[in-house]
Amino acid sequence: MRTDPARGSTVLVTGATGRLGLLVDLLIARGHTVRAMTRAPNGRDAARLRRVGAHVVYGDFEDRDSIAAAARGADAIFATGTAHRAGPEGELRHGRNVAEAAARADVRLLVYGSGDGASEDSPVPLFRVKHQVEERIRALGVPHTVLAPVYLMENLFNPWNLPALRAGTFPSPIPVEAPLQQLALADLAAFAALAIERREEFMGRRVSLAADELSAEQAAAVISSATCRPLRARRLRSAELSPGLRTLFAWLTDVGHHVDIAALRSRYPDVGWHRYADWARSQRSRIGDTSGIGPPACDTAQDALSSSPHRKKRAAPI
Ligand SMILES: NC(=O)c1ccc[n+]([C@@H]2O[C@H](COP(=O)([O-])OP(=O)(O)OC[C@H]3O[C@@H](n4cnc5c(N)ncnc54)[C@H](OP(=O)(O)O)[C@@H]3O)[C@@H](O)[C@H]2O)c1
Repeated sequence: MRTDPARGSTVLVTGATGRLGLLVDLLIARGHTVRAMTRAPNGRDAARLRRVGAHVVYGDFEDRDSIAAAARGADAIFATGTAHRAGPEGELRHGRNVAEAAARADVRLLVYGSGDGASEDSPVPLFRVKHQVEERIRALGVPHTVLAPVYLMENLFNPWNLPALRAGTFPSPIPVEAPLQQLALADLAAFAALAIERREEFMGRRVSLAADELSAEQAAAVISSATCRPLRARRLRSAELSPGLRTLFAWLTDVGHHVDIAALRSRYPDVGWHRYADWARSQRSRIGDTSGIGPPACDTAQDALSSSPHRKKRAAPI
């Protein structure tokens, strides 16, 4: 990535013990000072964050004052929703608290991870909530950049997918032959770092993020190649899903994401976008552990991946 004068910022990363904790490592590696927020500063995850050089600070999304105290004097805050833990109502409450704390602490930038598809009249309650949080940020006049990721590649490891994976199938939220745009968490973190370092360029903008597009049939072939174990794509049945997921997956099927991936890649090459095969290669052991299928059955996954149908089809830049 290019050298930028904005390095050396102090950034409050919320959700630092969760899936986006990789942003902490990335920002530290790029020369920033990171305050890593958690409700459990004495926990094991906090100890890991200290080991990589973060300053661990207490903060609870339920308590606006604690977020403002953690943010005071920082140049930027990174935050995203909590719907998986707190439901849509919790995400709304937490998001509004983050926006109000950012205003109160007078930070120069809030990078907020929302979602592609968020809108006022969405049939998906979670998307309406994400839109409401964005509106609150704007209404308070908080200097901000909104990042709107599509379906995350890491969703493969979400609880509702595990029974299908363990049964030797590749679970799909939509029909198995239909294309689905996806994004790796690493790319979301890389883009957040870019927004922090190129503050003026991204100020006030909302950027939808996607890195690859492929069907579950193609994704299953890629994962099969990575692990050298055959996985057949199977659409999740609605009986296997909570009502919230049913609505979300119906939206993915009927409307879906339509991000201009080629434009993003050409405009922001620094992000190092992951194609699904790149991501699968980086997750081989986790896929084995999570699915219960064990370590890859081959030692030559690199070769197997490079000869996968998906890889061949999409070898040229999109
Ligand atoms: N686009 C997509 O496909 C997609 C898919 C999944 C998730 N997402 C988004 O990614 C985000 C995070 O994913 P996740 O829900 O799976 O969570 P997660 O990252 O696995 O873990 C939750 C994180 O949130 C923090 N947190 C939870 N409640 C908190 C509170 N009251 N105060 C302060 N921190 C709190 C936790 O910190 P402590 O416990 O240390 O305090 C932890 O770091 C969500 O916004 C979700 O909508 C997007």
